[in-house]
Amino acid sequence: MRLLADAIRATAGHPGPIGVFDSGYGGLTILRELRSALPWADFIYLGDNARAPYGTRSFDLVYRFTLEAVRYLFARGCQLVILACNTASAKALRNIQQHDLPQIDPDRRVLGVIRPTTEIIGKYTKNGHVGLFGTPGTVASGSYDIEIAKLNPEIVFHSHACPMWVPLVENLEADGPGADYFIKKEIDGLLGLDSEIDTIILGCTHYPLLYSKIRKYVPDNIRILVQGEIVAASLIDYLSRHPEMDRMVTRGGTLELLTTEEPDKFSGLASVFMGHDVCAERIADLTLPFPNIS
Ligand code: DGL
Repeated sequence: MRLLADAIRATAGHPGPIGVFDSGYGGLTILRELRSALPWADFIYLGDNARAPYGTRSFDLVYRFTLEAVRYLFARGCQLVILACNTASAKALRNIQQHDLPQIDPDRRVLGVIRPTTEIIGKYTKNGHVGLFGTPGTVASGSYDIEIAKLNPEIVFHSHACPMWVPLVENLEADGPGADYFIKKEIDGLLGLDSEIDTIILGCTHYPLLYSKIRKYVPDNIRILVQGEIVAASLIDYLSRHPEMDRMVTRGGTLELLTTEEPDKFSGLASVFMGHDVCAERIADLTLPFPNIS
């Protein structure tokens, strides 16, 4: 822990890459859009695949794992970290922003994906009936319900948990025939809550990896919203309003991919997804600054 704290201290006030964190592969759906919106920026992506899924874990555990990841990315020089994970945004973001950041380094920032989504949802729905698919953790947290009620009180909102969807992605079964059963089951579950829903938020960053199958079973008249472009637009806006943070992002257009699990498996899926060959590095222990033990 001391070594990590030393590394964080040593990088304070120095520009660095933007950190992007998710429990596993899902944040790649955000990263791809962030890189296309900010091609000049350096990025480090960290997927905690060894401990995914987060969506069925307790509040305390998600908070602890997310804080470890944020501290690790800070030690690698990030001044700005995006939690490209709804579950972490729902269960850990507020605590990290309010409690941990002031102690770790008050000049660094951690942003999530829920607020940018709830801010613009009113623009997409025509009849005011919105649904959300999310992990059990995100749905139980009530974070979307609270934010939507605050920002768009006229919206009728229902959310539905899909506990099997992330395991399908993490186990590379997104395109397999078994996925159809679980996808259809949860779609029926959500539409059974409100048949008037005209807009569905994919409120877990893994779910765009199931998009073609979700689209197949959701009626054509319902819009399906993925978060990548929304989060990218929100980050551009944030950096324009915070030039002091914009200056803290290094400009080389590079990407480092880190995973806490098997790097070859991660590189394979990430290469397909990013559209070019990428090589991930394994981080065996997030509590040490630079151990790349495989
Ligand atoms: N991709 C994450 C999210 O957006 C977490 C999935 C999980 O690990 O359960 O919620």
